[in-house]
Parts: sequence; structure tokens; C-alpha cells
Amino acid sequence: MALNLSGTTKKGSLELPKTATGFDQVAHALRARKPQYDGKIPAEPSWQSEFVLQDIYHPTAKLQEFGYDTSELNRGYGVIDDTAVAGPTQILTPEGIAHLKEVCDKLEAYAGNSEFIVTRRVRSADLMSPFINNMIRDRNFLRACSRMVGVPLIPHPLRTPTAQINYFEGRETGDREIAKWHRDGMDYVFTIQLNSADEYEGGRFTYFKGRTDQFEGVTEDDERIKEAPCDELGATLFIHGSHLYHAVTPVTAGRRVTFVLSLFCPYFSRQDSNTFWHLAGDDGILATIPNWLRLKWPTKNPSMDFSLRAGSPAITWSDIQ
Ligand SMILES: [Fe+2]
Repeated sequence: MALNLSGTTKKGSLELPKTATGFDQVAHALRARKPQYDGKIPAEPSWQSEFVLQDIYHPTAKLQEFGYDTSELNRGYGVIDDTAVAGPTQILTPEGIAHLKEVCDKLEAYAGNSEFIVTRRVRSADLMSPFINNMIRDRNFLRACSRMVGVPLIPHPLRTPTAQINYFEGRETGDREIAKWHRDGMDYVFTIQLNSADEYEGGRFTYFKGRTDQFEGVTEDDERIKEAPCDELGATLFIHGSHLYHAVTPVTAGRRVTFVLSLFCPYFSRQDSNTFWHLAGDDGILATIPNWLRLKWPTKNPSMDFSLRAGSPAITWSDIQ
């Protein structure tokens, strides 16, 4: 599959550009700063639970199709946590999507720069927008997300990365405009498209259909490079972010805005895939230390109520049946 991806030449082939790891990731962590937010909340529509669609159809690919063995995956409570990709599909009504788009467009005023993943973005969007806060803590919304994956999901207890908005502006193709190939620290990642594909060029969501430890040396013509067709406004895609390499091709014209939500399965809290340096590369070391302690220490306590911590309604196995 031919993709317009920038990269460095190695052994005559175009190797895919990856985000920093190892020493480079630590260097990013030392430079990373959280953007300043003035605490003002822009006027916005109100969230309504009725914005969540009831019957959601979505194609699904399993992690076993990516080469993972069932024994490597989270198991318990009678299920295997093996959903690799689900969707794209619509989970909000057209009115709900129009409102989410309006809210995210207004929040662009607070977008900071990151060289690590994408050009401009807003993090902790739920702290800036009652609409987003209410949406991601709405029982109907969380049930819809949980059913797409097959495990109960609530907002991630790490507040900063939970709700993020990415702004891609079309310009000359360059290294900074691409969300480089990476895997996430987060396990359960949903991306909602806030533009239809006729508003921009490029910006294709691509992923590697293989194990993460098979990604090294993969070139752009590898047939395991796949594209998720997220062309429609509102298209919602789930990926098991920590278990598959993914990237967005450069936006060469127009504007592409995405809402990215990271959820958390309280039943598999100890298996959370975040690493300290993954988070520190985004937020800086100082901001990460308290967040890290808040995430990792409670997982040692089997009676920890993560829903309470996340300010979320409890979502249980009975909710996904
Ligand atoms: Fe990602």
C-alpha cells in the first residue's frame, strides 16, 4: 500500500518515522511543558445523554489477528480483552457531533505545541469544557464505548491525557506535521473525527497489522500497513493503543480536528500499559510524578474504587451485555 509518509532511507527502503524512544524520549520529557490555561470556560452548548446512539454496529479486529497469543492478553471475569480495532462507526447523533465540534473548535485558543506527537493540541479538555466533562462521564456514552471493546471502561484516572483534542492544519509536508508512528501508553483509545474528509487532504489514520515487536524495520510498502477509513464527520475508531503501532499521514491542505479519548478498565487496572517516560515525554517530569503515583499506587489496593477517583459512574460487566 503506497502511503505518503516521510522517513529516512535505510538499506534503500523508506523506513517509517517513529517517535522518540530511549534517550530521545527522556530528552523530550526534560523539554516538555504543559501549555498555560487561563481557567476561562468558553460559552458552549450543554451535553445531553440522548446524543449517544443506541444501536451501534462496528467492524472489529482481534489482537490475535495481529499476532498476539491469547496467553499474553488480559483475561478474567469470563472474557479475553482482545479487541485490537473497532469501528469506524458513529456513536453520537449528528446533533451531538455538531456540538462536540463546536466545543473543540472553541478550545483551539488554548492549544499548545508538542513536537512529540502532533503539532497543536489541547489536553485535559474535560477540565476546560463542561460539555466534554459531562460527555465522557455519561453512563450512556461510557456504555457505548465499553460495548465497542467488550470490557467495562471509565475515564482514565490520569487526568491530563484522558481527553485530548488534536488540530492538524494543512501546509507543506514536513516532519512536524505528521503524527509519527508510535504506540500509545494508553490501552483503550477512541478517536472521533470532527471534520469530514472533503474538508482536508491527507490525514489518513494508518496502523500496522502486526505485533509491536515486529514493527522495527517495517517499510511503507509493507502489506501489513492498513488504513482505517475515517472519512465521515463523527467517525469513531477504537484502537488498543498500546498494542499496535499507528500514525496519521500529513495533512497537506485544509483542517482536520480529532477528539481523542483514553479510557481505563478498572477490572484490569494493574495491567495498565502506561510507562513513566511515555507520560513524561508528553507532560514533563514534574507534572508526571504526582500523576504517576496516583495511578500506580492505588492499583496495589484491590478495593480501590477507580470510578470514584475518575468522577465517573460505575460501569460493570452487566453494562456491556
Ligand atoms: Fe496514538
